[in-house]
Amino acid sequence: MHRIVFLGPPGAGKGTQAARLSKELGVHHLSTGDLLRAAVAAGTPPGREAREHMNAGRLVPDDLVLAILNERLRHADAREGFLLEGFPRNLAQARMIEKNVHVDTVLSFELPERLLIERLSGRRTCPVCQTAYNIVTQSPKVPGRCDRDGAELVQRPDDRPEAISTRLTVYADKTAPLLSYYRTAGLLRTVDATGTPEEVAARVRSALR
Ligand code: AP5
Repeated sequence: MHRIVFLGPPGAGKGTQAARLSKELGVHHLSTGDLLRAAVAAGTPPGREAREHMNAGRLVPDDLVLAILNERLRHADAREGFLLEGFPRNLAQARMIEKNVHVDTVLSFELPERLLIERLSGRRTCPVCQTAYNIVTQSPKVPGRCDRDGAELVQRPDDRPEAISTRLTVYADKTAPLLSYYRTAGLLRTVDATGTPEEVAARVRSALR
């Protein structure tokens, strides 16, 4: 059974690779970003509370994220394992996850800041199926439309320049300390996230061997 965590700065390609790998391994892909965006879109009370933090590029309070994630995580873990993307985001969340489930491997995606900004600024997302495109690197067949369902692609509110800058700072301050935490625990493997999605996917596979 695989129990994998994907770590890395915003725009490193975690979501793109998680979607591929979860299919290959047949494990649940749990993305706290996707779960939170679904709660925002549904207008639930946690979604309404999360919205302002997300749009500004700040972390959503831990208790709110946990309330959304916990039950799904236990369910996935009890069955065929999980690929957890975007969680944990700080040391408190890392300690919380340890109380509930066991993690085997933590993959850290590494990409220079210039490319992170380029990928985030060019991202366009399908509001229906959440597939991510990029106007520079991963354009859809018909400009502005999702290849899968034809929906009009949108830009995430947190991909505006001010929010990108906040997200990069939050990553450096709150999330990057997890790298040494997981290295000390012997769980960390790093992945060079430059190059095409196919090249990165090959590195992910070899890091998991
Ligand atoms: P979340 O959705 O997790 O965002 P993130 O971590 O900032 O990561 P991104 O989704 O921006 O990037 P990614 O690495 O997945 O890259 P992607 O594959 O999309 O979180 C959003 C917000 O929710 C947070 O800011 C916070 O407010 C809240 N939140 C979430 N989890 C939380 C938690 N645990 N605690 C508290 N708050 C939480 O790719 C990016 C772009 O690049 C796309 O356009 C893609 O097409 C393109 N691309 C991908 N790979 C390549 C490649 N190899 N070459 C060229 N282009 C590529």
